[in-house]
Amino acid sequence: MDTYYIDGEFVEEDHARLSAKDITVLRGYGVFDFLITYNKRPFYLEEHVARLENSAKDIGLQLQHSRSQICDIVKQTIQQNPDHEESNIRIVYTGGISPDGVTPQGNGILMVMVTPKHELPDWWYSDGAAIATVNMERCIPTSKSTNYLNAVFAQQLARKQGGIEAVYVDRDNRVLEGTTTNFFGFKGNVLITPPDGILPGITRSVILKLVKDTYNVALRHLDLSELKDLDEVFLSASNKEIVPIIKIDDMVINTGKPGERTRHIMKLFKNYTEAYGQGKVS
Ligand SMILES: Cc1ncc(COP(=O)(O)O)c(C=O)c1O
Repeated sequence: MDTYYIDGEFVEEDHARLSAKDITVLRGYGVFDFLITYNKRPFYLEEHVARLENSAKDIGLQLQHSRSQICDIVKQTIQQNPDHEESNIRIVYTGGISPDGVTPQGNGILMVMVTPKHELPDWWYSDGAAIATVNMERCIPTSKSTNYLNAVFAQQLARKQGGIEAVYVDRDNRVLEGTTTNFFGFKGNVLITPPDGILPGITRSVILKLVKDTYNVALRHLDLSELKDLDEVFLSASNKEIVPIIKIDDMVINTGKPGERTRHIMKLFKNYTEAYGQGKVS
């Protein structure tokens, strides 16, 4: 049984209760963030909490906890779960109870859910995976809001096509990001990833830092029609890290195998997260 933090208390997971009147339940109005541990050290905790604050600001939600209070609560919740080898950490800040059901009152609830990290299939990383495109846009894309209706729906569409993830394509045919991942493509030695209209992924930011001396980076939007000419594609996310993509809809990317540059970035990222877990990088 895992221990969660909710509204000032540590409780067993089955005892974590939220009011049915909370506008996160009624309206999908709230924010969350997600991170994992390496060697029990939460990866980029401050940055994730800063993004939570930004997610809240972008939807007009007032948080009553400071960044350092939230970071401390996350660390304490990890300590409450000593049996986990590595953890998934979900930080949720609800909209709170509103008398008219729609106007936030600044009384949201902080919840921290720490669960054992689960491993994803090895073949995703060794053989590469398929994804599907969907014509959908996230409302307020810079905010990781608790309204992930698009994501839940789009992932079902992708799975029906044998894909592991769906990638949003907007009304201008721009390829933006996956439902819970950021999108990268290589054309030659140029690594392309969208500059805006996306959630600024923490994994994405680490990748951009790690590759800056090796590859040319183009922060620009990719048109749907450009995908077929990409040499390599990969997705990034905290839980998935870096997943090579070998097929998008019916299009096979290059030779249909994970590309050399993608493999190189996977290695750089692995070395970096190992060092992070050992406290060798801050
Ligand atoms: C819409 C969206 N894009 C990108 C990401 C990847 O972000 P990160 O690397 O910080 O996990 C996520 C994470 O869940 C997401 O929900």
